[in-house]
Amino acid sequence: MKISQQCYAQRRRRLLEALPEGSVALVAGASLATRNRDAEFPFRQNSDFYYLTGFNEPDALLLLKPGREEGEVVLFCPPRDPAMEIWTGYRAGPEGCVERFGADQAFDLDEQDEHIPELLDGARRLYYAVGSDDALDAQVLSWLNAVRAKARLGAEAPEELVLLDNLLHEMRLFKDEEELAVMRQAAAISAEAHCEAMKLAAPGRYEYELEGRIISHCMSAGARFQAYSPIVGAGANGCILHYIENDAPMNDGDLVLIDAGCELDCYASDITRTFPANGRFSDEQRALYELVLKTNQACIELIKPGLPWNEVHDLSVQMLTSGLVELGLLSGDVDELIEQGAYRDFYMHRIGHWLGMDVHDVGNYKVNGEWRPLEPGMVMTVEPGLYVSPQNENVEPRWRGIGIRVEDDVVVTEQGCEVLTSGVPKSVAEIEALMAQ
Ligand code: GLY
Ligand code: MN
Ligand code: MN
Repeated sequence: MKISQQCYAQRRRRLLEALPEGSVALVAGASLATRNRDAEFPFRQNSDFYYLTGFNEPDALLLLKPGREEGEVVLFCPPRDPAMEIWTGYRAGPEGCVERFGADQAFDLDEQDEHIPELLDGARRLYYAVGSDDALDAQVLSWLNAVRAKARLGAEAPEELVLLDNLLHEMRLFKDEEELAVMRQAAAISAEAHCEAMKLAAPGRYEYELEGRIISHCMSAGARFQAYSPIVGAGANGCILHYIENDAPMNDGDLVLIDAGCELDCYASDITRTFPANGRFSDEQRALYELVLKTNQACIELIKPGLPWNEVHDLSVQMLTSGLVELGLLSGDVDELIEQGAYRDFYMHRIGHWLGMDVHDVGNYKVNGEWRPLEPGMVMTVEPGLYVSPQNENVEPRWRGIGIRVEDDVVVTEQGCEVLTSGVPKSVAEIEALMAQ
């Protein structure tokens, strides 16, 4: 399942229309990253660049210039070179960029220094991701200087450098039907993968065996890449928020926390489930699990257009704090404990984040200093958690080392929200039943 070229063309049109008169926008693609010596990580395109082109080759660059007669959409791309292509694989080349990727004009990468100063000449503002990449900043300055060097010949360099992020990321924050179809599919594949991992779990197996099952399932279902490194933490490893070692054995009596989601056509999914390695929750595990689950469900229930983003988080803080008091892990007045931030010993992250082409997706959370109200088409995660440090001497030993998160992906709809990740169970009874299979 892929985003159509028509959709990419519409996005470029919208951005061209949003750019003020006399501006140029530059969006750079990603380069290959070195893993070690001359071995490279698999290529992942820059999300902004891919959002506007669907073009998946390294080192490319998009330039948009509204109203330009010779063409408003200009792409720079790796050249077609049969000798290189034996090593790198097929390249579309400038012709392919025009024919298949909607460029009005396209050039080889090595023609950037020749053409970009010409394209900047006469523009008042240059929009790009200022400050996000040192090499790009240096390149942009060199192109600006090349225009300034021709001032006596009548060349005029842009006066202002403007961050493109606000314009472009506001577009990316709202997902259309094509994007939602891809995200539904990514979430469904990841949900199945979580079910497979739950079924495989058993004391004596290693965390990476579950990671392997997740990756293998996603790949078999058409999702070649994960959206981030899977977290598979057994026992106290579940309390380490970004645990990715995944190399410990699961012990009888451990909970296992898996946070993993595949990527499909550069759209992420992001799911966490927590379950007992031996298939049965202990009393303490169940008590804390039910609290996190109840919070996850209440937060999802609350989500609807108009609700300020922060109210979802505030509800999670309220529910988790009062639950911890009821179970005896905190003591005192709930409102005072919230005021003091006592929950932060157990719940140290926020309720969620925007989700899209990046797992922690772009888009502002506040507008004019206020938490922004939710709107249809926004996709976010809902991921309350409780993590009782093994070193926490303020709670009875029976609670220590329990780490739990329950994370779903939802899209805000006109009426409320649609849960994209309901394909993987989360109630105690359902999890125990699945694991008994
Ligand atoms: N997997 C990263 C997160 O849940 O935010
Ligand atoms: Mn996650
Ligand atoms: Mn998340």
